[in-house]
Amino acid sequence: MFGIFDKKKDMQLVIDDKPEMILQAKETILNGALRHNIPFPYSCKVGGCGSCKCILVEGKVKELTDKSYLLSKEEIKNNYILGCQSIPKTRVVIKLPAVAFEHQIVTAVISEQKALTHDIFEVTLTLDKPMPFQAGQYVNVEVSDEEIPPRSYSFAHDFRDTSLSFFVRVIPNGKMSNWLTAPENINRNVVVNGPQGEFYYRESERDLLCIAGGSGLAPIISMLEAALASSNTMINRNLTLMMGARTQKDLYYSDEIKKIKKRWKGVFEFKAVLSEEPESSNWQGLRGFVTEHLDKTNCHNTQGYLCGPPPMIDAAIATMNTLGIDSEHIYFDKFLDQSQAS
Ligand SMILES: Cc1cc2nc3c(=O)[nH]c(=O)nc-3n(C[C@H](O)[C@H](O)[C@H](O)COP(=O)(O)OP(=O)(O)OC[C@H]3O[C@@H](n4cnc5c(N)ncnc54)[C@H](O)[C@@H]3O)c2cc1C
Ligand code: FES
Repeated sequence: MFGIFDKKKDMQLVIDDKPEMILQAKETILNGALRHNIPFPYSCKVGGCGSCKCILVEGKVKELTDKSYLLSKEEIKNNYILGCQSIPKTRVVIKLPAVAFEHQIVTAVISEQKALTHDIFEVTLTLDKPMPFQAGQYVNVEVSDEEIPPRSYSFAHDFRDTSLSFFVRVIPNGKMSNWLTAPENINRNVVVNGPQGEFYYRESERDLLCIAGGSGLAPIISMLEAALASSNTMINRNLTLMMGARTQKDLYYSDEIKKIKKRWKGVFEFKAVLSEEPESSNWQGLRGFVTEHLDKTNCHNTQGYLCGPPPMIDAAIATMNTLGIDSEHIYFDKFLDQSQAS
C-alpha cells in the first residue's frame, strides 16, 4: 500500500532521444510529456483509443486501466503500454512506435468555414509550415480558450502544402465543433498536434470496402485523393464506398465522389444508405443501416476501411466478421467523443 508510488516522489522520464524530464507525483507519461511540449500521440486521454501506445524500455509503471482490450497480445508481449494510463513508479525510459511522419506541433489560422450540410462544415486551416501526413490520419486541435478542450479531427484531403481541412460535424453544445465553425472565429489561431493514428491505406490483393458515417467520410476522401495523386495500387482495386446518413439533407460530397469514380481504374461503386429518410420522399437509393446492406457478395475477399461513429463501426465489424472477413483485414477510426471515451 505505501510503496514508492505513494511517497509522491517526482519521477524521471526519458522519451526516445529527448532529454530526461521530471514528472510530477502521480502524473501520467502522456501528461508529463505534453507539459514538457513533447509531441506525443494521443486522442481520448482516458484509455479508450490506443493512440498513446508506447514501448516501456526501462522502469516500472502503475497502470490505471486494463490495456488488454486495446493492445494486441503481440504488443503486450513487446512491453507496449498506454501513455495516458501509465504513471511511473521508477525512472522510466520509453520509446514511441515508429511513424512514417514525425509528430509536430504547428500553429495555424482558420482560413475558411464552408457549410457542406446543415450540420457538417469543411473547416480549412492555413499552417505556419507544412505537416506531412499519411492520408487517413488525424490531428489534435487546440485553441487558446481554456474552456475548450483539445479534440481530434481527420485530414479531409490530400493537401501537401500549408493548407489542411477537416469535415466537422457540429454537435449541439459541443465546445470545439461550435468554436471551429463559428463565423467570428475565422482568422483565429489554433494549434495542431500530429499527424496521428494508424488508419491509412495498406496494400493487398483484396477488393476494398469503405464505410463512412457522417463526417467519417473525411479520411476516406483523403485516402481516395491520395491514391489518385500518387497512382498507388489502391486506384486499381475494385472499391465499394458505402456512406451512412440519416436523410438526404445529411449527404454531401456526392459530386466530388462522382469525379473520383470517373478517374478510378478499378470498379468503383458508391452507395448512400439513409436510415431516417421519410418513406414518402423521392429517394430511390438504399434505406436502413449500412450493415443491413452488407452481404456475402460485397464482403467477399475484401479489405475494410471504416470511419465514423463508434456504434456504426462496431456493428459493421461484427457483421463483416460474420460474413467471413477476419478483423486483421479491417481498419477503422472511431470518432470517439468524450462520453464514449470515459
Ligand atoms: C481519432 C478521431 C478523429 C476524429 N475526427 C473527427 C472528424 O474528422 N470530424 C468530426 O466532426 N469529428 C471527429 N472526431 C470527434 C471530435 O474529436 C469531437 O469529439 C467532436 O467534434 C465533438 O467535440 P465537441 O468539443 O464539439 O463536443 P463536446 O463538448 O465534447 O461534447 C458535447 C456533448 O455532446 C456529446 N457528443 C459529442 N460528440 C457527439 C456525437 N458525435 N454524437 C452525439 N453526442 C456527442 C458529448 O458526449 C457531450 O455530452 C474525431 C474523434 C476521434 C477520436
Ligand atoms: S489517449 Fe491514451 S488511450 Fe486514448
